Amino acid sequence: MLSPTTATIRIFLHVIAASIWVGGQFTLAGVVPALRRSAPAATKPVAQAFARLAWPAFAVTVVTGMWNLMAVDITTASSAYQATLMVKIAFAIASGAFVALHQFGRTKLALAVGGALGALCAVAAMFMGIMLHTGN
Ligand code: HEM
Repeated sequence: MLSPTTATIRIFLHVIAASIWVGGQFTLAGVVPALRRSAPAATKPVAQAFARLAWPAFAVTVVTGMWNLMAVDITTASSAYQATLMVKIAFAIASGAFVALHQFGRTKLALAVGGALGALCAVAAMFMGIMLHTGN
């Protein structure tokens, strides 16, 4: 059997935190319509409970992302890898910004645009992370 290395721990923490951030948004989006129908008063506390889980997961994604940056020798990577990495980081930052807009925005437009783009950008960051893994 293979033994875990520091790289295993680094990538495991990055991917599990990213999974909570990305997957949690879809789970919440799937659960909220049912909550609104059967227990409308629970919608807000459930969303707040999710936020208490999602933001620490996002923070772990960013911190382990920086750890990844230090571990990967970007200077010798191909320019395609470097470009993919830059776009991926931009999507990750945008997903955080849009989810914050969704959470703290006061207009219906901010809620809708923030929620939809937050999830889309998070999925794009995930997809590009997999491209980094398979492409270098
Ligand atoms: C929404 C946020 C994010 C998601 C969903 C995400 C997802 C992923 C995934 C799935 C991988 C592939 C891991 C593997 O090799 O199997 C990855 C790799 C990577 N991520 Fe992220 N990530 C996010 C944020 C960030 C941030 C903010 C940074 C930098 C500050 C970053 C830097 C990296 C780097 C450098 C790698 C390559 C690691 C390696 O090959 O050893 N990520 N990411």
